[in-house]
Amino acid sequence: MTDDALEPSGLSLGAQRDAALEHTAQYVLRAWNEFDRARESETLPSPELVELLKAPLPEHASNVLAMIDHAVEVLDASLAQSRPRYFAFIGSSGLEVGALADLLAHSYDINLAVDARAATQLEFQAVHWLAQFLEYPAHTGAFTSGGTISNITALASAREAALPGARHRGLADVRPTLYCSSEAHYSITRAAEVLGIGADNVRAIEIDGDRRMRPDRLRERLVADVALGHTPVAIVATAGTTLTGAVDPIDELAEIAKEFGVWLHVDGAYGLPAAAVGETRDLFRGLARADSITVDCHKWMFVPKACSAVLVRDGATLTRAFAHDEAYMPHEGEQFNAVDITLEYSRPFRALKLWLAFATHGASALRDGVARNCEQARLLYHLAGEHESLETLASQPQLSIVPLRVSASGCADPDRHNEALCAAMQADGRVYVSPATIDGRTWLRPCFTNFRTRDDDVRVLVEVVMELGSRCSTLHD
Ligand SMILES: Cc1ncc(COP(=O)(O)O)c(C=O)c1O
Repeated sequence: MTDDALEPSGLSLGAQRDAALEHTAQYVLRAWNEFDRARESETLPSPELVELLKAPLPEHASNVLAMIDHAVEVLDASLAQSRPRYFAFIGSSGLEVGALADLLAHSYDINLAVDARAATQLEFQAVHWLAQFLEYPAHTGAFTSGGTISNITALASAREAALPGARHRGLADVRPTLYCSSEAHYSITRAAEVLGIGADNVRAIEIDGDRRMRPDRLRERLVADVALGHTPVAIVATAGTTLTGAVDPIDELAEIAKEFGVWLHVDGAYGLPAAAVGETRDLFRGLARADSITVDCHKWMFVPKACSAVLVRDGATLTRAFAHDEAYMPHEGEQFNAVDITLEYSRPFRALKLWLAFATHGASALRDGVARNCEQARLLYHLAGEHESLETLASQPQLSIVPLRVSASGCADPDRHNEALCAAMQADGRVYVSPATIDGRTWLRPCFTNFRTRDDDVRVLVEVVMELGSRCSTLHD
């Protein structure tokens, strides 16, 4: 590294500022152009890059343009979810205006912990727009770092509603319980852990043939628990499970929540944007009855991480769970401080990227993006059905996850074969898919949440599965 001094403070880019911005902008433009189409293989870190990433802490300044070059080398040799054939886990897609919003927001570095004037007003507006988009009657909500934190925030409100004063007193004298499907995301268990409910008190309710929570089993469990003196804190409906994209029957669960006087939270971190789309809207019937909802804008609303939202029907429930008085936190007149409704203190301006996405593209473009991903899931399901050696789940995908596996004859151990196939696909680099275990068996689990994915990318996915699936050495073990 050179010791090309920076001026004037040593922490300003000084004379190199224009060049650094232009240099970065060129790389961003190159990346966006590249992301338009899939690349045929992955770029692996070069030996020089590996060495660079072991270098000790630099004591002196270096040329910023050269350091930006290194940063881009790292990015290019990383798994970017923005690429159109990234089908693993639940990806995001680095929406261009979202990335620009992040650059602007981070440059101004506004803190949304307390009233930040216009930025706070924009966050209110983004909450309202999101509620309108999802047809959910909320006036209050906040942007958080992810579905995990949104779920914890909502369930902290549920805990305070079920057990008023529990945030101060603790839970020593009560036995709280939480209800979700056996395929709910782990963040629900984590919420139970950190909120003192306890992971052992999470009731994993059986699922039906479509992998949705069974309301009859839920009711049975509630009746039994109440009889034993437990206090149900919340029912959590998953609107798009992480494993298969199943949407729990929200309306029926809302009926049970009403009957037992229990909070209903909808974890729609992944799937909820599909509630805004004609073809899938019916799956979410009853959503407006939920006390709180989670939606990750950094999943299926295409903006870059981290941008989740928690919305509640009654804003006072958040205040009851989080409001507090501290000497360093002013509460003058009508002053609004987000720390009184959120888990976090320092909070970046996450709302800006969703706001800019809605403002630039319009809600209809976001709806179209979600609808297209659902069509691609149906296309994959259909294409897989044309191959005898490919197995899919019995029912059509509810949203945009399509588990599939190779079950070729001559394959002594299909689980090992599908694991090997997944690893071979990741090494091959044309498509990127993650494995998952469903009912004890190994599946490939492609998920479509990227606005850049084209139907041809779906066809390539099937071609690669067929090509590598017939070659994998485990076939002939
Ligand atoms: C249904 C569901 N809930 C919660 C989460 C956690 O979200 P995050 O990773 O943003 O914390 C996920 C993540 O995939 C999810 O699928």
